[in-house]
Amino acid sequence: MAKKGETIVTKLLGLDAKEIARQYEDGLRLALVKMTRGIMELWDHSMQNGDSCCVFQHNERTADYAFMLAQNMGWSKDDCVVVAEEGMIHDMGKLIVPPSVLNYPERLDNETWERYIIPHPKLASDVILHTGRAGKRLSVGVAQHHERWRGGGYTRKLRGKRIHPDGRVLALADCFDAATNHRPYEKNGPKKPEDMAEEIREDPYGQFDPKMRAVAADCFPEVYRMLDRIGLVRRSA
Ligand SMILES: [Fe+2]
Ligand SMILES: [Fe+2]
Repeated sequence: MAKKGETIVTKLLGLDAKEIARQYEDGLRLALVKMTRGIMELWDHSMQNGDSCCVFQHNERTADYAFMLAQNMGWSKDDCVVVAEEGMIHDMGKLIVPPSVLNYPERLDNETWERYIIPHPKLASDVILHTGRAGKRLSVGVAQHHERWRGGGYTRKLRGKRIHPDGRVLALADCFDAATNHRPYEKNGPKKPEDMAEEIREDPYGQFDPKMRAVAADCFPEVYRMLDRIGLVRRSA
């Protein structure tokens, strides 16, 4: 007798309807991530004379840090993959920011910051949400990657466990990568991975999930060295 949700096709494939739906959703999610990555890569490459903002590379590195942190936190493989996918696209909202703002060699004034930088997580998550169910899972971490454990982050000023674990992992991955690579406004240059790992361990401003800090500080410098070996660390403009 046929089981609920079982068709001739599902029977032939040896899969149940739930498994097929899961695989279908995984496929849609991957397609969405690949397309978004492609757009960011093209956007970066379309700029000339050193104007590239390297948003694509930052997203790729953030994904690697996020995956390793999630794995070292003991997350399931599926959850590690999803948080890495969110890392790959977390800053897609920056595509609406003019390169002259992203590459501005000083700290941005409040007006520019609020106009261009603050909206980028929400903008990205709204776009992703419009793609339907596959995007729903990805939109959460993307929307929350600038929230802070003790509050005061953006977009929704969430705090503590109200921030989804994906958002907490991405916050650590994003900050570590941003600090250890070239930033146009940072006169002292990128931080050393070991120094940034110590900052994360101490977390003087209460930015990060206390249960994730030590794990991140232990594994991030090794990820940095791996990225450096393959030429993905950016030390200067
Ligand atoms: Fe961001
Ligand atoms: Fe970022």
